[in-house]
Amino acid sequence: MAKQGTSAADKATEIARRRYNRIAPLYDLMEGLVERSSYGGWRKLLWSKVEGKKILEVGVGTGKNFPFYPGGTEITAIDFSDRMLSRAREKAQMQGVKVNLQQMDAQDLKFPDNAFDTVLSSFVFCSVPDPVRGLQEVERVCKPGGKVVLLEHVLSANRILAWLMNAVNPMVVRMMGANINRRTADNVARSGLVVEQVTDLAAGIFKLIEARKRGKSNTKYQS
Ligand SMILES: C[S@@+](CC[C@H](N)C(=O)[O-])C[C@H]1O[C@@H](n2cnc3c(N)ncnc32)[C@H](O)[C@@H]1O
Repeated sequence: MAKQGTSAADKATEIARRRYNRIAPLYDLMEGLVERSSYGGWRKLLWSKVEGKKILEVGVGTGKNFPFYPGGTEITAIDFSDRMLSRAREKAQMQGVKVNLQQMDAQDLKFPDNAFDTVLSSFVFCSVPDPVRGLQEVERVCKPGGKVVLLEHVLSANRILAWLMNAVNPMVVRMMGANINRRTADNVARSGLVVEQVTDLAAGIFKLIEARKRGKSNTKYQS
């Protein structure tokens, strides 16, 4: 990945990248229980929303979505953490998954405008240092009329729970790299995408956010 500059934003990105490098060896172990109890079903739902052939997965991590990649698609997947990516590479090889893995910052995607039919991610915009900038990049690389689907945990609408989430957030960020107090559906709307549907998956915290880039699609999708 290109060398980071020295602005406050670059420093925040480098700190976040290092956190994910640090937890990469433990990531699958840490998430093992929730993966089996709920995440697996939600990932299946996320990937059932794919439209078109050219797909971008942002923040691929260790490749937990690989089993859900739909056939007949061309998938590019990016992550800024070299250690997360190297685990994803090993997994892709072991599982025989065809995916173009690249090290890249979601806030500075190296793809041309209007390149992908669908852009997806799971549990990523809680940790992208500037989530609106990252989502603006998602909007840029998505084709007009294209689909954006995010699986995210967000700040609860319950005032007591929200207070607690705000209180423990700094500790969670330091330990896990993820913010548990973001309003990601609002961030999606701020990026210029049109939020079409927000589905509550659990406890008012886990959400499936479906959005679309403005404009008319030129692509004919098979239903
Ligand atoms: C909580 S993990 C989720 C990984 C995977 N999507 C999953 O569902 O298991 C967050 C991932 O987002 C990546 N990430 C965070 N900020 C990023 C950024 N600015 N650019 C690219 N990847 C980023 C991290 O390196 C990490 O792999």
